Amino acid sequence: MDIRLLRPSDIPLIQHANIENLPENYFLKYYLYHALSWPQLSYVAVDASRPKKSAYDYPKIVGYVLAKMEEEPADGVQHGHITSISVMRTHRKLGIAEKLMRQSQLAMVETFGAHYVSLHVRVSNQAAIHLYRETLGFQTEKTEQKYYADGEDAFCMKLELSAIREQIREAAARDEPAGEGIDAKKASEEVSDVDGKSGAKEEPAKKEVKVKVGRGLGVGELVERVASKN
Ligand code: ACO
Repeated sequence: MDIRLLRPSDIPLIQHANIENLPENYFLKYYLYHALSWPQLSYVAVDASRPKKSAYDYPKIVGYVLAKMEEEPADGVQHGHITSISVMRTHRKLGIAEKLMRQSQLAMVETFGAHYVSLHVRVSNQAAIHLYRETLGFQTEKTEQKYYADGEDAFCMKLELSAIREQIREAAARDEPAGEGIDAKKASEEVSDVDGKSGAKEEPAKKEVKVKVGRGLGVGELVERVASKN
């Protein structure tokens, strides 16, 4: 199984996977918007055992994570957001979703200096809630009433990414290229304790490179909640 960055050519395939696996579906342009605006953050899991018969043969995508940076964060804190993740039924419980999430989280910090990652999940979605809470350490911030088009509530969840930030800073201090020697799993496993407090040390006063991500792209009508109602 290969976990690699999403390519624009994968978009029809992940749209298909999304329709198969989830009731929240999106216009093609919404996927494109993610892939073009934050090409570092979305990943696919590809079945590498499937031989490519010709140059035109498409990859067998068995899972994806579609992620973005929040463009206008209400709290003013730079953070990422998981728009959608799913794994095909045939390939579930193999650790694919965990790997996709950890890769995206690492990229959010490395590329955009994200402080945390947020997401919404149906209150009835036991598998996903286990993945977020137990496996990855997300905390439930609040419940949003009737968030989904069918009236179901959503848990708004959040995971602090301070441990990954700390690892990247340490790697930079050792003069290693960004991301080298950083284990996505190890980094995000150390993220938060039960109280939601980060286990990381106080940030030393080091020079930080600020990356601007807020752009008025005029895509307000494409936001997740609206798209799910269409
Ligand atoms: N019930 C309980 N726990 C489960 C289940 C299940 N059905 N499936 C997986 N888990 C647990 C695993 O045991 C593992 O736990 P562990 O770390 O304690 O061992 C953990 O979740 C992670 O397992 P993975 O193998 O990485 O998860 P998987 O690749 O099977 O994908 C997913 C999980 C994405 C939730 C999958 O079931 C799926 O695609 N569901 C339908 C789509 C969906 O619900 N997506 C999330 C919507 S919310 C959003 O997109 C922001």
